[in-house]
Amino acid sequence: MNKAIKDLTAISIIGIAMILAIILGRQLIYPRTLRMLADQKNILIGAAVNGWLLSDPDYSVILANEFSLITPENALKFGPLCPEPGVYLFDEADAIIAFANSHQMFVRGHTLVWTNQLPDWLTSREWTRDELLEILYRHITTVVGRYQDSVYAWDVVNEALANDGTIALDNFWMKGIGPDYIELAFRWAHATDPNALLFYNDSFAEGMGEKSNGIYAMVADLLERGVPIHGVGLEMHVGVDYWLPPYSEISANIHRLSDLGLQVHITELDVRLPTPITKEYLEQQATIYGGMLSVCLEQPACTAFGMWGFTDAHSWIPYIYPEWTAPLIFDEVYKPKPAYWALIETLESK
Ligand code: XIL
Repeated sequence: MNKAIKDLTAISIIGIAMILAIILGRQLIYPRTLRMLADQKNILIGAAVNGWLLSDPDYSVILANEFSLITPENALKFGPLCPEPGVYLFDEADAIIAFANSHQMFVRGHTLVWTNQLPDWLTSREWTRDELLEILYRHITTVVGRYQDSVYAWDVVNEALANDGTIALDNFWMKGIGPDYIELAFRWAHATDPNALLFYNDSFAEGMGEKSNGIYAMVADLLERGVPIHGVGLEMHVGVDYWLPPYSEISANIHRLSDLGLQVHITELDVRLPTPITKEYLEQQATIYGGMLSVCLEQPACTAFGMWGFTDAHSWIPYIYPEWTAPLIFDEVYKPKPAYWALIETLESK
């Protein structure tokens, strides 16, 4: 090899090495996490968590580094929280909230009024309307009161509408109290903590359609009548070859809610995959995560982007729907999946 070629080769190698060193150095000096990038975009990035996992360092380090918002996955639901009349087990919720406070994370409270995961003592007998009003009032004021310094937003009412957008009749509170249970819950929560943001949260209503039309009409009516409500939560349990509303519709839906003066939170995003997992499915999943985040970033009203967990090692999906799998952004051994990198890239490029 003549000297000129040797020199050229050496210069190229040195050049490439320098570029690599700069890239690597940047990574070391400026490590990127979802949380850091989301902070720059003024959006909260969240995950649902279980208290018993916080003692696992693999879990808690990722949680604190990558997320700015925590939602207890079950700990604040009526059944787990209050297994006997008047007996509240606050330990798990307290631990999650203490973790959030010590890592400067926000907390979403989920959920005060829902027909699922109610305690047996409540569902196993008949009550008069007045008794139920009293029970619900006590529950809301007890829980919101206890956490008024630490929960910044509550899912006050969860999944109260049927798929056709009308109020769900097959609902414990609807049957026992009637449709005004919804506005009473918002009024009581607000009276207890006037600073908390109060949300209506529901599923299968992210895009345009009968159900999201029903939610829109309901929240518009609540606002018109002066009921304190500040936002709508879009659960977003979507998937590859499953429920997947088009981005343009989600955008239109967020836009019309924002025109009412409401915030929108993505509250429970996960993207389930058919089994067995393939590389293609993982790539499609990444595209969906990135696409949903883009939609949220494009709308100033979309102020939080929350996932229903963060690792496939702990997701409700395979337990409840065994034909689906791997819906989250870290795999079962806490390795970031293509979906994680899609979120990073979206935050960097938008
Ligand atoms: C799920 C939890 O993830 C499970 O652990 C539990 O067994 C059932 O509830 N919509 C909601 C969430 O609003 O509260 C649900 O969470 C998922 C669907």
